[in-house]
Amino acid sequence: MVEMSRRRALISGGALGALGALVAASPAQARSLIGWNWSPSGSVAGYGAGADPHWVWDAEADRLLASLYERGLIPQVNDLLWNWERNDQPLPDGLPADLRDFMEQARQLPSWADPEKLALAEEFNKSRGLYLNLCNGPGGGILATAIPREAQSVYYSAGGADMEDRVAKTSLFGFAVGALNAYRPEGTCVVECVKTRLVHAAVRHLLPQSPHWQEATEEKEIPISQEDMLVTWHTLPTFAMRKMREWEVPMTDDEAEAYLHVWQVTAHVLGIADEYIPATWDAAFAQSDEVLARNMGPTPEGVKLTDVLLGQLAEQTSPAGISRPLCNALARYLVGEQVAEWDGIQQEPVWDKVIPEVWPLLVKFREGLVPLPAVPEVAWTIDEALRQYILLYLTKGQETKIVIPTHNRPE
Ligand code: HEM
Repeated sequence: MVEMSRRRALISGGALGALGALVAASPAQARSLIGWNWSPSGSVAGYGAGADPHWVWDAEADRLLASLYERGLIPQVNDLLWNWERNDQPLPDGLPADLRDFMEQARQLPSWADPEKLALAEEFNKSRGLYLNLCNGPGGGILATAIPREAQSVYYSAGGADMEDRVAKTSLFGFAVGALNAYRPEGTCVVECVKTRLVHAAVRHLLPQSPHWQEATEEKEIPISQEDMLVTWHTLPTFAMRKMREWEVPMTDDEAEAYLHVWQVTAHVLGIADEYIPATWDAAFAQSDEVLARNMGPTPEGVKLTDVLLGQLAEQTSPAGISRPLCNALARYLVGEQVAEWDGIQQEPVWDKVIPEVWPLLVKFREGLVPLPAVPEVAWTIDEALRQYILLYLTKGQETKIVIPTHNRPE
């Protein structure tokens, strides 16, 4: 992956160049003065140029996607890739040669991928599935809406107009990472990651052409930089690990390391450069503190997306007796007061008190640390809500596939 420096962003041609010129007169200048302090010595690569990832994208994929759009090949590529599903499946015949070459290389696991750690991570994902799905599903989803660059990208891209489909597509990816065979030949994680990498490069090409996105965004920078990817990555494994520690979920050091490892491999296959992928949890926490602080906040788009997401969650779990107030409170409990306020999540006088008292007890019971009588009845309503949610998304994911978008959100 070649670094695209800020200067190159400014001088490169076409839509990207025009955007770069706008950047020059924006608050982004202030950011570049603050600089980037996380050292590549803490990464899986162990070394690197140390460039601020705010100004690095995915040069090879971005050039390729721009060219596929110019050649009018996206619908054909989507058709060909529709049935490409398993990690070990050969790429379909008929793909453009440059795309095929890129994908053959992009689907390779990094040399540092460790099968033993990946196997332990599978077990960990199985035994801690409920917490992980809760943190990475509703938790990560609501956190993402409080990341302005992500909320605005999602809102103004095609998927923003159909959040149900978008969430189902994202759940395809989420369940692929957590699956028992994620990176085994019969698994699907490599496929979902490579497809997602193509989708992200597509978004970098399309979104700058959206007048609505142009109007809404303050900095008008090319979306989904390496920093943006890291921010979102930290709302997934790093957030989940922090939560599990907070809830005192028992785990061994090897399990924690294995869980980090499956996400390190995932970061690599998604197109994050090795020099930015944290090697240890300590390095991950340090990087997370650095990037989340400077990338989170409120936007009108984030508030709207949160409302849609929580509305969906409530609708889908209502057969199990789960109300919107419970969904609101669960979200607030997960993401905390600050993010809940940014996202405009309504306060719930009853559930906002109940959940923080009951959830830790439910965790302790599940981990065999307290006996059943210690768990109040209401806890099972929450437990059932999560079960329903997970079941539903497992099914929904089967109805859809990740495809390269051909347009932005129309309005
Ligand atoms: C698409 C995952 C980072 C914006 C997708 C998809 C997945 C995904 C699975 C395909 C689903 C779909 O097409 O709807 C991830 C992961 C990330 C990440 C795992 C980081 C670890 C980001 C960031 C942004 C972003 C940082 C924006 C700043 C988008 C957009 C789409 C997309 C706009 C396309 C939606 C559409 O089709 O209209 N992402 N993403 N993603 N992602 Fe990401």
